[in-house]
Amino acid sequence: MPKTVIQKINLAEKFSSFADYYKPRIAAELNGQMVKLVKFDSPFVWHHHDHEDEMFLVVKGRFKMEFKEQDGRERHEWIEEGEFIVMPRGTEHRPVAEQECWIVLFEPASTLNTGNVTNERTVAELQHV
Ligand code: NI
Repeated sequence: MPKTVIQKINLAEKFSSFADYYKPRIAAELNGQMVKLVKFDSPFVWHHHDHEDEMFLVVKGRFKMEFKEQDGRERHEWIEEGEFIVMPRGTEHRPVAEQECWIVLFEPASTLNTGNVTNERTVAELQHV
């Protein structure tokens, strides 16, 4: 078994250690899932993930999650501090922030931030924080 260093994570400290937006960092890993930290500040891009469900937990600020129901209807939910939302696999979605917002993501290691879309906002190699 690989040697694991057990240590607590302080979210305020971790979020203070980086200043860029839509660039997720890996804070921890468990059961094949990653705990990623990311800051939003603007509208992202519409995308979906074929194989992964994604969880977005708001630690600071708020953002609007725009998404399409299975019948194609567009909906949105404002996710406030202390709230989270899960985007099931296959769901078209787009996070939209109007100001800085801190998010914790739970998703498998394989999840690409832009899902099925590749563009200048795609981050393939994630840094640890
Ligand atoms: Ni996504």
